Amino acid sequence: MTRDYDPLTKLLHWLVFAAVAAQYAIGEFMPHIGRKSADEGLIAWHFIMGTVVLVAVVAALIWRVVHPVPQTSEIALWQKRLATLVHWLIYLLIFTMCILGWAATNYRGWEVKLFGIIPLPALAPKGTPWAHTAGDIHTLLVNVLLGLVGVHVLAALYHHFIAKDGVLRRML
Ligand code: HEM
Ligand code: HEM
Repeated sequence: MTRDYDPLTKLLHWLVFAAVAAQYAIGEFMPHIGRKSADEGLIAWHFIMGTVVLVAVVAALIWRVVHPVPQTSEIALWQKRLATLVHWLIYLLIFTMCILGWAATNYRGWEVKLFGIIPLPALAPKGTPWAHTAGDIHTLLVNVLLGLVGVHVLAALYHHFIAKDGVLRRML
């Protein structure tokens, strides 16, 4: 029997999805951040939406830890293990990307504000070399995230259209 996810898991899943999709789009369309950039326009929106992603992913991670996930008996053990591994990797990767992006913002001497309102502490003082490297790694990880989410979405579509085993439906 395939059991549904609880409503909060579903809500958080689609919230993380929407926030990450928006954040990815803003990141791709905003101007490249360099010495002459200003903390305005799409760049400023990237930092605001970044805090939305961070809050959503931390909430999803906490809920995932305190709330057991329903098991389905319909899929092979190796598929369950692989899916669980990919899920954890995706959540941890998003969290890591947020922290690196936050440090990279502070590198420029800009403050990250929660939802654009509440100032958050700087993770690194302006000009710290490691915070510059954090920005480079952040940019690299964008592609790793795309790859993992791609595998994840292909798996969901496979279950829905080919295996027809209700795995996608339990998240809807
Ligand atoms: C999962 C969440 C995130 C995604 C998908 C994402 C995506 C992106 C993308 C696509 C770029 C452009 C890379 C390029 O130049 O080609 C970028 C750059 C950047 N993002 Fe994010 N971002 C995320 C979270 C954050 C957060 C939370 C912050 C800060 C609060 C942040 C700050 C930055 C900064 C400072 C850059 C410029 C990096 C540099 O070139 O040094 N990002 N991000
Ligand atoms: C940024 C985009 C996405 C992220 C970060 C993400 C992340 C996750 C995570 C972490 C889980 C595990 C949930 C848990 O056990 O608490 C999950 C499950 C799931 N996701 Fe996504 N997801 C994304 C996009 C999508 C999309 C676009 C689809 C549908 C096409 C989808 C379909 C599913 C399904 C069906 C499950 C349940 C799998 C199972 O029952 O084992 N996800 N997702």
